[in-house]
Amino acid sequence: MSSGAVRPLTIAVPKGRILKALAPLLERAGVDADALRESDRRLVREAAGGALRFLFLKPDDVPTYVEYGAADAGVSGRDTLLERAFDVYSPIDLGIGRCRLVVAGPRGATPPDLPRVATKYPRIAAAHFAKQGVQAEIIQVSGSVELAPLVGLAHLIVDVVETGTTLRDNDLEIREVVTDVSTLFIANRASWKLRSAELGGLCSRLRAAVIEARAQAAG
Ligand code: PRP
Repeated sequence: MSSGAVRPLTIAVPKGRILKALAPLLERAGVDADALRESDRRLVREAAGGALRFLFLKPDDVPTYVEYGAADAGVSGRDTLLERAFDVYSPIDLGIGRCRLVVAGPRGATPPDLPRVATKYPRIAAAHFAKQGVQAEIIQVSGSVELAPLVGLAHLIVDVVETGTTLRDNDLEIREVVTDVSTLFIANRASWKLRSAELGGLCSRLRAAVIEARAQAAG
């Protein structure tokens, strides 16, 4: 069956906000990223004349595809990687998708000693409150987290804040910052060894692109 053809280098990318920032960064690194800008619903997209292909995934699934080797590399938020300990290599912080993971609650309200906390990040939230000696009840939700304190599901939330608009529009305020978040380039451990020339070259160019983008942003 095998013709000896090498599988295209496969990169898992998150659908949604990050794509917009990712395409220019990849292009700065010399990668053909036109396929990231097309608006159809194809989940596998070839690039660079077939040498490369992108897999379009929900952000939380990117590290799973990379860990199991269905993708050689991927682009994933530090929040996702912290929540579930994936066995992947993470050589570069891409400096895009910067946001903060915070504890937030209704403006001016004091939470009880044993708060209920709604979050998409149950492990990070549990570890955070345990470290502070606060016995919190963690309630896992999968989106629209800011709703939970408005309707009595929870007293607090642990969620990511980027512009702060969602908190503001729902009369919530930040109580504490749990951690800063940004987007990492990750690689499958076997691919990192077996395709070291391609991945190593890509990483060097990406590192240079990140530095260049940062210098440009600083003016
Ligand atoms: C994320 C996050 C916040 C919001 C923060 O939600 O969970 O709700 O973005 O961004 P902001 O500070 O710029 O307002 P997302 O848009 O991914 O949708 P979700 O609520 O369905 O998770």
